Amino acid sequence: MNIIKRYLGLLFVKLLTLSIGTGAIHAQSIGEKNVYSPSNKLIVAHQDATGVIKMRMDNMKSIGAEIKKIGAMIRGKRPFDGSQIAAASERIIGYGYKFKKLFPEGTGKDPSQASQKIWTDWGGFTFAMNKMVRAATILAESGRAGNVGQVKASYRALGKSCGGCHRVYRVKKKRRR
Ligand code: HEC
Repeated sequence: MNIIKRYLGLLFVKLLTLSIGTGAIHAQSIGEKNVYSPSNKLIVAHQDATGVIKMRMDNMKSIGAEIKKIGAMIRGKRPFDGSQIAAASERIIGYGYKFKKLFPEGTGKDPSQASQKIWTDWGGFTFAMNKMVRAATILAESGRAGNVGQVKASYRALGKSCGGCHRVYRVKKKRRR
């Protein structure tokens, strides 16, 4: 992986957040429940997603798949392997960076669940994504260090960063059927 690139990416997110302001404080109130797993219903509803909407849904699903792997290790369903946790976290960071390009203005229409708030509060949205990347960075470091306690804590923080954004910037729209 390219550390310099990642650092620049973080810096970019920071600058963007600073320049647009602190509209995202409310994104800090967070919840962990049901943020990861897309239900079957969701998949059915998204069959007709295309283009950039489909790309970001897939991007999100990949993030979900990675965090699931990590969660399985934390819950003892898979053997604990700090280096695998670090690798999965780094993939999440990579998906996080792709993210900004995946939300061009005007792409919040059905079947997307993207809230209009993303575009009226881009600074807050970016802040929320930055939070996810930061949590994943700490998780990667703790995994690599084999620090189980810190892995657990930063895994929780990562999960909260998902819910924190979803709660504000994702809406459940009506299903067609
Ligand atoms: C900065 C905001 C933000 C963060 C952080 C975030 N998400 Fe999302 N997520 C969204 C938005 C917005 C959508 C809806 C996208 C759409 O439908 O166009 C979404 C959709 C999803 C979906 C549904 C994908 C689909 O097929 O429709 C899953 C699964 C998901 N996110 C998982 C996660 C997980 C797991 C994390 C944390 C590790 C996370 N997200 C972090 C904003 C975020």
